[in-house]
Amino acid sequence: MTTGGKVPWGREYLEELFGTFEEDITSDEGEGSMKSMEFFHDVFNTGSYGGRLIDIGSGSTLYQVISASRFFSEIVCSDYSKDARAEIEKWLKKDGTAFDWTEYFQYFIELEGSSEKIEDREQQLRHAVKAVVHCDVLQPNPTHPLTFDPFDVMISAYCLEVACPDRPSYAKAVANISTLLKPGGTIVFESYIGATFAVIGGAKAKLLPVEVDFVVQTFKEAGFSDIQTVYYPSPERSEFKVTDVKGMLFFTAKKSS
Ligand SMILES: C[S@@+](CC[C@H](N)C(=O)[O-])C[C@H]1O[C@@H](n2cnc3c(N)ncnc32)[C@H](O)[C@@H]1O
Repeated sequence: MTTGGKVPWGREYLEELFGTFEEDITSDEGEGSMKSMEFFHDVFNTGSYGGRLIDIGSGSTLYQVISASRFFSEIVCSDYSKDARAEIEKWLKKDGTAFDWTEYFQYFIELEGSSEKIEDREQQLRHAVKAVVHCDVLQPNPTHPLTFDPFDVMISAYCLEVACPDRPSYAKAVANISTLLKPGGTIVFESYIGATFAVIGGAKAKLLPVEVDFVVQTFKEAGFSDIQTVYYPSPERSEFKVTDVKGMLFFTAKKSS
């Protein structure tokens, strides 16, 4: 999965990518988080969602479930990395050393035009997250040894291109995670496009460079339809320090009934 040593997907990832609020795709490295967050807001704000949600490859982050926390009575976060899961657990337990997501909650509350207090919204998310579990998208049951009834909605952001060494394993991973979703359920998916690496905490994570067509076709072949995509190209740059990402692909899709 990685080169240049173990990639620190826990605290270092958080500090590097989320330590400064308002990094955007127009930044030098073209891998900012604002567009990601806008997409999650747009999806959950305009749709009609409810029930149970699983986030695949949550990493150490929570930005991706803040918008959803208004609508789901049960959210399961999952990741391969123990360090990443530990960061989420710390936040859930209000550990004094947990990462501070306050600005991110504030951002979503403002986007929603709500006058809700940040603490109330944080509490809503803490209440909704029922479990933080080990997950390996390369396994037929990614949450093995745990089994779950299929979920109504799945989120997965920037995980498959990290987890999968090649295209056949990517296709298998899509089929594997699809088993966790109900027929007719929705996936909300975000991916780097064209990136071969990302440097996190000085370690170089090797990514699978994928194109929009490949990703969309792979999800179609795994039985997804009504794929609604948004694509943001990264700015042209002459050197790649942190990542050589070429763009970001976001979509929602429905698992066939
Ligand atoms: C780039 S981070 C994405 C984290 C978060 N979803 C976000 O949007 O910032 C990629 C995550 O994929 C996880 N990962 C790598 N291989 C995996 C696998 N086989 N199964 C599940 N997660 C995996 C890593 O541990 C890491 O936390």
